[in-house]
Amino acid sequence: MISTRVTQQWHLRYPVISAPMLGVSGGALASSVSSAGGLGMIAVGPAQDGHWIKSEVAKIAPGLHFGVGFIEWDVARRPQILEETLSLQPFLVSISFGSVKPYVHRVHEAGALVVTQVNSLEDARSAEECGVDAVVIQGREAGGHTGELSTLTLLQSVVPIMHIPVLAAGGIATPQGICAALMAGAEGVWMGTRFEACHESLLVDRIISRLIESHAEDTVITRLYDQILHAPWPSKYPGRVVSNQFVRRWLSQEITDDAAKELTEGVQAYDPDTIPIYAGESVQFVQDRESAHHVVVQLMQQAEAWWKERSQVISS
Ligand SMILES: Cc1cc2nc3c(=O)[nH]c(=O)nc-3n(C[C@H](O)[C@H](O)[C@H](O)COP(=O)(O)O)c2cc1C
Repeated sequence: MISTRVTQQWHLRYPVISAPMLGVSGGALASSVSSAGGLGMIAVGPAQDGHWIKSEVAKIAPGLHFGVGFIEWDVARRPQILEETLSLQPFLVSISFGSVKPYVHRVHEAGALVVTQVNSLEDARSAEECGVDAVVIQGREAGGHTGELSTLTLLQSVVPIMHIPVLAAGGIATPQGICAALMAGAEGVWMGTRFEACHESLLVDRIISRLIESHAEDTVITRLYDQILHAPWPSKYPGRVVSNQFVRRWLSQEITDDAAKELTEGVQAYDPDTIPIYAGESVQFVQDRESAHHVVVQLMQQAEAWWKERSQVISS
């Protein structure tokens, strides 16, 4: 059994957190991950209101812990969404892609833990100074909005200077990947893409099929969708998506009003050749529809076996 400060202090069987993913992570996914012994998260963004959050939390089996993940610039615009969430007693709140500082005291006062995803050594340092309970380093391999540096580079620079637990996000989706992150000093893994095709995902079938067909090389980092939608994402956080016809065409020509029109139509039709399909390089390892519960248990059983096998490389 793999034991870290995160499993001990958060009362988890496994050091696996399902990352908050907008449009993917609702109550069913969170419940499945938490019931397997990890910690499941629900993702909240500008399109989700308090009513939606409450109805998703209601899908979590009684007694299970859950987390809720926010985007900082969204919480800054509508602080009541954090208050409404805190009244539902989450175990953990993540606030990422901006400074978590204004929220740490309030989340703690409400009895929840608070973490943030960071993409640099500097931001990890500042997060610890703000009093977060753990920091999630998010590498550029990650799906969704992300930063400049890779997971392993961040882990190697952040772990040695942190006093709080470090979780690793970005590109982790196999037993070997989990062991690598833990061996590099992470005390838990924050996996997103690996859960996108699960039965409990909020994605529609045709997007899931596209994910299953896709490989690491099919993903690209781009601000294209944010530019077309005039989304308030800071430019330092581009997004990793599975490339499609829309991305290929509009990255190779000047963006005109036609792009927004096409995108609106594509979104209405859930057209995988148009809409943003946020996913990380680890889409490579998304090969089946499975339950999230099964994914967690199988990954961790195999990780424990892999750890034992690899430990034989040390001779006495
Ligand atoms: C589809 C998708 C949506 C995401 N949405 C959010 C989000 O709403 N809030 C957030 O903090 N992170 C979000 N992320 C980033 C994840 O929390 C996490 O950093 C990432 O999935 C880890 O890398 P991986 O996808 O390689 O496992 C999203 C990622 C994906 C793939």
